[in-house]
Amino acid sequence: MDRSPVDQLRRRIASALGVAIPQLRVAAPTSPDFEAAAAALRKADGRPFVVDGDARTAELVAQRELELELELEDFEDELPPEVREQLAAHWAGIARAEHASVASFARFTSQLMSVGAPPQLVVESLAAADDEVRHAEAALELAEAFAGRGLEFGPLDVDAAVAEACDLEQLTLACVSEGCIGETLSTLELATIAARCSDLGLAELLQSIADDEARHAALAWMFVRWALQRDPTLNQAVTARFEALARAHVGAGAVHSAEPYPEILVEHGCLPADERERVIHEGVLELVLPCARALLDESAVGNERGC
Ligand SMILES: [Fe+2]
Ligand SMILES: [Fe+2]
Repeated sequence: MDRSPVDQLRRRIASALGVAIPQLRVAAPTSPDFEAAAAALRKADGRPFVVDGDARTAELVAQRELELELELEDFEDELPPEVREQLAAHWAGIARAEHASVASFARFTSQLMSVGAPPQLVVESLAAADDEVRHAEAALELAEAFAGRGLEFGPLDVDAAVAEACDLEQLTLACVSEGCIGETLSTLELATIAARCSDLGLAELLQSIADDEARHAALAWMFVRWALQRDPTLNQAVTARFEALARAHVGAGAVHSAEPYPEILVEHGCLPADERERVIHEGVLELVLPCARALLDESAVGNERGC
């Protein structure tokens, strides 16, 4: 039986956490005023590389030689120039985000070790960095094909990055924002677009990236579960972080897409802004918050039992 992307991801996270996550829709709270978190919701492109509160990415720079393996010949004649430009920008943005995720997981691996996390989580984090290299290369190739020119990644600023969040609470809260929320929502977006994309080769690529991202999201949930077991006093701060997400989501408001060719965008792996908003809305209320509730309830019960 086919399941929706929300159902599939909910089952994946439930299995990683070893808890039952009911199929429910959490009612949205009414406080509307969390602009920074609301902006973050709209930019959920995988695991960001955050230093001093800013998500860093490398610039893309032109290659001298144009040697493209991927030509997307079928699309070249039929795409309106403004759509082609939009798709080039979309895939360039994804490539930069995926590239930054490599550094984010490289740092996360050493942070896991610094707080004594179990070896299995370290293994998963190393594997995630490896996945992100492939995602960055695939997205860059698509950006090049739509831009019609060779591109490569410039230097990534990693100054002060290793001094970030080696304290368990900071690390856990960053993982809630960037992993449990950011990666879970971007996985859902990818799985949704993969299911809608009519170009079979591209749909397959997107689904394989979504499968990797589901493992990365599960890793974040598993780490937070472990951190709550290690230090039960974190429950309050983690709860507050998820509640801020819910309020931010309500404050984000509706987005109206101005894209003139939404179906062409979908065909080429890009969700129009209003559809993306709908996916994120569904993901917050039907996936992230129910998973958070199950995780926090389980952690609270475990604490009462003293385990
Ligand atoms: Fe990725
Ligand atoms: Fe990822």
